[in-house]
Amino acid sequence: MENTITDRFRPKIHFAPKTGWLNDPNGLVYYKSEYHLFYQHIPDRIDHNGILHWGHAKSKDLLYWEHLPIALYPDQNGDIWSGCIVVDKMNSCKLQSGKENVFVAIFTQNNKGLQEQSLAFSNDGGMSWTLFADNPIVANPGIKDFRDPKVFWHKKSERWIMILAAGHLVRIYNSQNLLNWNFLSEFGEGEGCQKGIWECPDLFKLNVYGQESLEKWVMLASVLDGSPMNGPGVQYFIGEFDGHSFVNDNHPEINLWLDQGSDCYAATTFSNLPDRDQRQICIAWMNNWKYANDLPTENWRGMMTIPREFSLKYKADKINLFSIPAYKRKKIINKKTEIEKQKISSSNILCLLKHKIITPFELKINLKNNMATEFGIIFKNALSECVIVKYNYNESNLLIDRSKSGLTDFNLDFAKKENSAPLVVSNKELSLNIIVDVSSIEVFAENGQIVLTNLIFPTKPYDNIYAYTLDGEIKIIQCSIWEFS
Ligand code: FRU
Repeated sequence: MENTITDRFRPKIHFAPKTGWLNDPNGLVYYKSEYHLFYQHIPDRIDHNGILHWGHAKSKDLLYWEHLPIALYPDQNGDIWSGCIVVDKMNSCKLQSGKENVFVAIFTQNNKGLQEQSLAFSNDGGMSWTLFADNPIVANPGIKDFRDPKVFWHKKSERWIMILAAGHLVRIYNSQNLLNWNFLSEFGEGEGCQKGIWECPDLFKLNVYGQESLEKWVMLASVLDGSPMNGPGVQYFIGEFDGHSFVNDNHPEINLWLDQGSDCYAATTFSNLPDRDQRQICIAWMNNWKYANDLPTENWRGMMTIPREFSLKYKADKINLFSIPAYKRKKIINKKTEIEKQKISSSNILCLLKHKIITPFELKINLKNNMATEFGIIFKNALSECVIVKYNYNESNLLIDRSKSGLTDFNLDFAKKENSAPLVVSNKELSLNIIVDVSSIEVFAENGQIVLTNLIFPTKPYDNIYAYTLDGEIKIIQCSIWEFS
């Protein structure tokens, strides 16, 4: 169902709640050709100081979402915090009552600060839910921050595996029936970024691109502080998992980040994708705890990133996690414009599309540099509010500047500093994919090697796109713009 609500800043191709508060995506599950998205939701407030439920929506194309009734309500065991869903096709939990595969949700309940893991099940494809009578299924072992379970079936050991966040590390458990869990191992001491507590971990397997026999395990762990933007972010580790322990392939001090923008947190992947062994799709909360409670939206607050598909690729002898938009462009695009191949020199600012563009859109541009020190794209509206994406060839840095993007003064941390990420390009060629919605910009550079995700709040939509260079000439090799319906 297409979004028909038209309040200010409401995104068109990103999920946001009809009303109320949203944070982390939860229980992402694919079932019968539909993507289900559950999420941290407070129906009666637009800040996080309320009682958390699981909201629910579904989509066929990962862009347009249908709102569904609230899935999980708190009970005497506490508020419903983050977690996951698996489809238990073997009925290992013995909770299936009809013909439909049983959905099992495993999530944290927060009872006045005591965090334990609970279970709920659905026998109608996720539409109605029953909280398990014997919750919690994993009691708190005396750890303050003990939450956000993610469960998957591990073929080799023939067990369900649960990974959850415990302070500054993760704990791993296994189970045969999703109800009784054995503690196996911990990962995280002295590993990666330790500046904040870890939240919302995930663990999955992928083939390495171009080396189909090489499989690696990827662990995601959101960390509340210490990202490249000096705040919350999603770090990842690449390594091995044998059904018991995770071993990091890299030096413990290496920090790898899923997204180097300001607004990507609590990323988690879909379960039950038909080809889950080769394909992983994630959604993250497009926000930042530093200012999430202050965003200038009206009767709702919080939205998700564009769903992203992951791949593992070698870059300078190291395996990196790449992300690209996961939607299928062909099916949903309203209008495609090809911008002619041309040169931009420092004496002229090229206007790629003046007064024609309608948000949301995706811009894809491939460039070849010839002596320029900087290339930039400016998205601008009639009030001169603008967001700038630029690449500095001397410093090998990709940047987003949102300091003049529109409303920025609702929180001092919002427009504080440019987002920047180191990015070395080969042969002076650069490719960027940029998705602009009503209140966000997501930049995927070099086919997803670097991603920068930022919220923006222009008071009018950007309808002009300009390109510029400094100190030299740049050739546009290819440039297309797709507008969504
Ligand atoms: C992450 C988080 C989770 C927790 C949830 C509560 O953003 O803090 O760790 O389960 O939000 O809403």
